[in-house]
Amino acid sequence: MLEVKEALKVYGEGEARVVALDKVSLKVNKGDYIAIMGPSGSGKSTLLNIIGGLDRISGGEVLLDGKRIDNLDENSLVEVRRRRIAYVFQQYHLLPSLTAVENVYMPLLFGGSNGQGLDKAMEFLKMVGLEKRALHKPGQLSGGEQQRVAIARAIIHNPSLILADEPTGNMDQKTGADILEVFARLNEEGRSIVMVTHSPEVARHAKEIVYLKDGRRVERVEQK
Ligand SMILES: Nc1ncnc2c1ncn2[C@@H]1O[C@H](COP(=O)(O)OP(=O)(O)OP(=O)(O)O)[C@@H](O)[C@H]1O
Ligand SMILES: [Mg+2]
Repeated sequence: MLEVKEALKVYGEGEARVVALDKVSLKVNKGDYIAIMGPSGSGKSTLLNIIGGLDRISGGEVLLDGKRIDNLDENSLVEVRRRRIAYVFQQYHLLPSLTAVENVYMPLLFGGSNGQGLDKAMEFLKMVGLEKRALHKPGQLSGGEQQRVAIARAIIHNPSLILADEPTGNMDQKTGADILEVFARLNEEGRSIVMVTHSPEVARHAKEIVYLKDGRRVERVEQK
């Protein structure tokens, strides 16, 4: 489905030059659940941003269903991303003045939705187990609940690939477990997940762990 081939990412020039990714390759097929691990600064977020088209590579290729997307112009890239890829961040970026269900509904506004949006948003809130909190504002929700709202918002376009950078990073174990349960369900439905995490405990839930070090892929471990 999505393939990163020999991706190179270089930041800065001269003294400030950093090779964040040094020819990293990664294939994500339908139904994959991959955890990316490695020390701080090893290139995990950079790789995720490149998979998701949030950042450009300095060399190599990114292919979606066999077609190169790394050389698309900004508008086409945004379009691909909007249709196929969901991105879950460590910070939830919810709008504080909107209710949970309105936050989930937000992406549909840009897609020119026709009034059925709120029903659909409700359906997705239900999927993450939060229908009873639909009218709460982010400030009235716990961290894990806010993250679940953010996940519902991220997947309302039915993306086939979900990318998550430390999605349980700010949470206690119980709350993190709720998020992992949502991911497990989404993965069972056939969606692919690529998740960056520092926690071996969290990574255990993935089907495969890819380790990065100094911008290089050093190991891959299949689980279960
Ligand atoms: N915009 C940028 N400009 C310059 N260097 C950058 C930029 N973004 C990242 N880097 C550098 O690239 C390297 C990889 O960064 P990246 O954010 O991918 O690491 P990471 O593995 O996600 O680390 P962490 O676990 O701390 O989040 C780091 O050395 C970082 O300093
Ligand atoms: Mg990071």
